[in-house]
Formats: sequence, C-alpha cells, structure tokens
Amino acid sequence: MKLNVVEYPDRDMMMMDVAQQVAEELESALLSTGTATLAVPGGSTPGPMFDDLCAADLNWAGVSVLLTDERCVPATSNRSNAKLLRERLFVNRAAAATYVPIYGDGADTVDIKPLLPIDVLVLGMGADMHTASLFPGAVELAGALASDAPSLVQVTPPGGLEPRVSLSGPVLKGAISTHVLITGAEKREALETAAKLPDIILAPIRLVMQDATIHWAE
Ligand code: 6PG
Repeated sequence: MKLNVVEYPDRDMMMMDVAQQVAEELESALLSTGTATLAVPGGSTPGPMFDDLCAADLNWAGVSVLLTDERCVPATSNRSNAKLLRERLFVNRAAAATYVPIYGDGADTVDIKPLLPIDVLVLGMGADMHTASLFPGAVELAGALASDAPSLVQVTPPGGLEPRVSLSGPVLKGAISTHVLITGAEKREALETAAKLPDIILAPIRLVMQDATIHWAE
C-alpha cells in the first residue's frame, strides 16, 4: 500500500499547516454549499492544532463540528474529548460553530445523517493502529466496520479503557477529505506495520490510510 505521508520538521509547523489545510477545505465547502461538517479526534495530539484552527477567519456559523469518538466519561472529566473541544477549539472565532454531541447531553436527539458526508475529517491513531475508537480486538469492531453499520457505534476497547462511542467505518470512509495527525517514532512504525497487514480487523487505520493525507512529525 502506498501512503501519502507528509513529514514536518517539528510539531508546531505540522499543527499550523494542518490547521491551515483544514480551514481552506472548510472554506471551499462553505463556498459551495453554505455549510460544512468537520469531524475531529480527541486524545492528546490535536490540542495545538485546535489552538491554531480556532483563529481561522471562516464563516464558523455554517460549520457543524463533531468528535470522531468520545470516551464515556462525564463532560467535566479530563478524559472527556468534548472538554478538549470546549477549551481548545470552541474559543476565538470557532466559538460560532455548532457542536454536535455524539455522547452525553443532547446526543440522544441528534441525528448526524443530515450532516454527512463529513467534509473534513481529522483522525488520530494509536500505536495499536486504532483510529477514532475502532480498536483492534474490540468485540464490536466487525459490526462497526460493516457497510450497514449505524453512523454511531458503541465500542468496548480491550485493556480496560473506558467504553467509547465512535463514528462507524462507513461514516469515516465516506468523508470527502481525510487527514491523519500523528507524532513520534512509535506511531510512525505502527503506520508502516498497518500498511503491510492483510486486514482492517487487525489494523483499523487501514480503513482510511490509503485515501488520507497522513501528517507526521517526530
Ligand atoms: C481518543 C481519540 C483517539 C485518538 C488516538 C490517539 O479519544 O482517544 O479520539 O482515537 O485519536 O487514541 O490518541 P493520542 O493522540 O492521545 O495518542
């Protein structure tokens, strides 16, 4: 599998560049339809990218933002991805965007189908080759990847991590533009391993890696 990996001299440059690309792609979606859907990961990697993206001069009022996945924890927990978005993305100009919850308050009444396809999808990846919360070894993985999977799936990650809610395989795969944002030697190695493995079940990042721009810095 041939990958489109962009290597950056350092993380700051990567975060700025990815934020700029995301903003440009949102702008072009806004120009063509007046609205745009952005999906972003949580975890420890994307915070600095959000710090840059939140200042972009866009019609944020037309942008719907959802998480690619959420940990089933209270919204006040430091492990809440929604908390990360509140603190790092929905500030500055991006505060005008619409947050679409996939877990917790308001999620029960949300239908994400009208927001699809995702115009701009940013994903993270774990060293175990999971992306969003599509974890290798999770009992729900095959169902979450099935072509008839619902948009949102519950996932029980192996290894005692808290349960998750994740966008499903078809929703992620259907995105118009996909970026994967990763740092460090371990994830770079995991990426190379995933490219050689035969099956998405073993390496869920394979779902998107061929079509994605993969951004990497040490
Ligand atoms: C989460 C994420 C998840 C993340 C990877 C990488 O809630 O954990 O959305 O999919 O992108 O686990 O996480 P780090 O950036 O913390 O390494």
